[in-house]
Amino acid sequence: PGFSVEILASIDSTSSELMRRARAGQTAPTLLVAERQTAGRGRLGRQWHSAASVYEGTGMVPALTFSLGLPLSPRDWSGLSLAVGVAVAESLQPAVPAAGTDAPRIGLKWPNDLWLGEGRKLGGILVETATFTHAPQANAQARYVVVGIGLNVLPVRIEGVSPPPACLREVDSALTAPRALGQLGLPLVQTLLGFAEHGFAAFQARFGLRDVLAGHPVQLSTGRQGVAHGVDEEGALLVLTDAGMQRITSASISVRPQ
Ligand code: BTN
Repeated sequence: PGFSVEILASIDSTSSELMRRARAGQTAPTLLVAERQTAGRGRLGRQWHSAASVYEGTGMVPALTFSLGLPLSPRDWSGLSLAVGVAVAESLQPAVPAAGTDAPRIGLKWPNDLWLGEGRKLGGILVETATFTHAPQANAQARYVVVGIGLNVLPVRIEGVSPPPACLREVDSALTAPRALGQLGLPLVQTLLGFAEHGFAAFQARFGLRDVLAGHPVQLSTGRQGVAHGVDEEGALLVLTDAGMQRITSASISVRPQ
C-alpha cells in the first residue's frame, strides 16, 4: 500500500492523533512524525518524556518520535511489539561497526523497550489497535494498528530517571532523527506485513539474540521473582519461579531485572 507521510513541528502525541483519526474513520496507511510531542505516551499509562529543553532553539531534534498506522489482519496479534523491536534494533545497528569504534549492542527488553548497555533505555514501542467502526472489514481479524516509536537521538537527562537514558549517537555518531527514520521506515513496514503473514515465529530467534533479560533474575510487578528464560513462539516471556515456569503474556505486568 502507499503511505502518506506527514511531518509536524509539534503535537500532543503522534499515536493519539492516529488513534483519533482511526476512530473518525480515517484508516489510510500513514506515517506521522513529530519533532516534538507535548503529551507523549508510553506503555501502562506512563509518559514518554520530551525532556529536551536544552535543545530548544538550536534546530536540533533530540528524539525521533513517530507513529505508523495501517490496516492489518494477522492470524494472531501476539508478539507484534517484539517483532517491531527486532526490526528497529536490526535496522539501526550497523552490521559492521566503524573501524576503531566499539558500538554498544542494541538490546531488547520484553515487551517493548530498546536498551543500550546495562539498563539504559534508548527508546520504546507502543502498539495500539482500533477496530473498524466506519467501514467494517470482511475479515474479523482486521484492525487499524498504530505502532508508536520513540528513540532518543541526542543525549538527554530526565529528572528522577537513573541511569540516564541512552541515545542513538552512542550507536552511530552520524545518526540524526531524519537519518534514523530513513533507515528504519521501510524495514518497519516490511516487518508489519511479514508479521501479518507469518506471525511471531519468524522473529523469535532474532529477539533471542538481543534479549537483555534472558538468564537474569527478574522481579514481576505481581510480586513474583524468578529467572527469565527467553520468549516462546507467541512472544510470551518465560520466567522460572518457585511455582514453576510462568508464561507472562499480560500487557499489564512489568518486569525489571534484579
Ligand atoms: C514506552 O516506552 O513505554 C513506549 C514509548 C513510546 C513512545 C512513542 S513516541 C511516538 C508515539 N507517540 C506516543 O505518544 N508514544 C509513542
